[in-house]
Amino acid sequence: MKILVTGGAGYIGSFMVKRLISRGDKVHVIDSLERGHKDAIDSEAIFHQMNLMDWDEVEQVFSSSQFDAVIHFAGYISMEESARDPGLYFCNNTSGSLEIIEHCKRNNVKNFIFSSTAGVYGNPIKIPIPEDHPTNPVNPYGESKLMVEKILSWFNKIDGLSYACLRYFNASGAAIDGSMGEAHDPETHIIPKAIEAALNNNEFKMFGTDYQTQDGTCVRDYIHVLDLVEAHILALEKLVKDKGGYIYNVGTGKGYSNKEVVEMVKKISGINFPIVELERRSGDADSLVADSSKIRNELGFNPKYSDLETIVKTAWEYHSKNSK
Ligand SMILES: NC(=O)c1ccc[n+]([C@@H]2O[C@H](COP(=O)([O-])OP(=O)(O)OC[C@H]3O[C@@H](n4cnc5c(N)ncnc54)[C@H](O)[C@@H]3O)[C@@H](O)[C@H]2O)c1
Repeated sequence: MKILVTGGAGYIGSFMVKRLISRGDKVHVIDSLERGHKDAIDSEAIFHQMNLMDWDEVEQVFSSSQFDAVIHFAGYISMEESARDPGLYFCNNTSGSLEIIEHCKRNNVKNFIFSSTAGVYGNPIKIPIPEDHPTNPVNPYGESKLMVEKILSWFNKIDGLSYACLRYFNASGAAIDGSMGEAHDPETHIIPKAIEAALNNNEFKMFGTDYQTQDGTCVRDYIHVLDLVEAHILALEKLVKDKGGYIYNVGTGKGYSNKEVVEMVKKISGINFPIVELERRSGDADSLVADSSKIRNELGFNPKYSDLETIVKTAWEYHSKNSK
């Protein structure tokens, strides 16, 4: 298939590009590189450095190749940043996505996979969280993604665009050989932050130890990036086979507490870095764990790398090789 991957220089997008190329797809990448890395893009992909919102340039990419599908990762990812600057998120994540969807319409691209987030649920009233749980984002990041989900449902109804919104829980881990991994700047995710503390023997900041969880720290559902990418392959196969609009959680259904995560980083690294316990941050839910039965039952999703030990081992391998 001929596939356009936006955000293919980012963490998850670069793994997706590699996986598509390994199955023989022809892959184009659009990325501005403002938050990605050119060297993360597989050399067999055709790379177009441009912003999603450069209408004429992006239209040129669409009109010169008839894509079978678009997998849309490009966007900003920080809840904290979105709470400081909501306009940035509604512009880049919502308007940027709308423009890509509109290019699909004009160029007769019929399949679209969207990187959504568990953040669309807000503070859950039910754990594990099924897809039909109420959506009530607590920050502009989650809202910016939910708006795109709604936009897609209209393009499906009116224009016949088939789509899958994949609501990722916590993407994590790295290539098994440590050759590719997560390199956000600034980094806000707990596993790379804890690894950074181990590598530099800095203190690790634990925000909140009085949550309603078994050890008082937040519980999250971690999905290894290799499993996450596989969920996109399954979603793509689904869209090609059964036209429609689909929403799937991508998580494992098992949660790990922040304390468990940090203990695992200590175990894998062999470094007993100090932990400082701080007040809660606002907006952190006690527990966010996916009900992953829909994607397992409908698409046969079966994560292979998403146990905490494999996630942390692969992330450690990557960061210890690439630490500056
Ligand atoms: N990482 C996670 O745990 C997680 C969880 C839920 C959802 N998501 C979503 O998955 C997607 C990918 O996440 P990631 O962790 O790989 O992020 P990332 O920041 O590593 O990658 C995003 C890429 O998009 C590019 N980009 C951003 N805005 C652009 C624009 N206007 N034009 C062109 N390129 C642009 C950046 O340069 C970057 O390379 C995002 O949409 C994110 O919201 C991620």
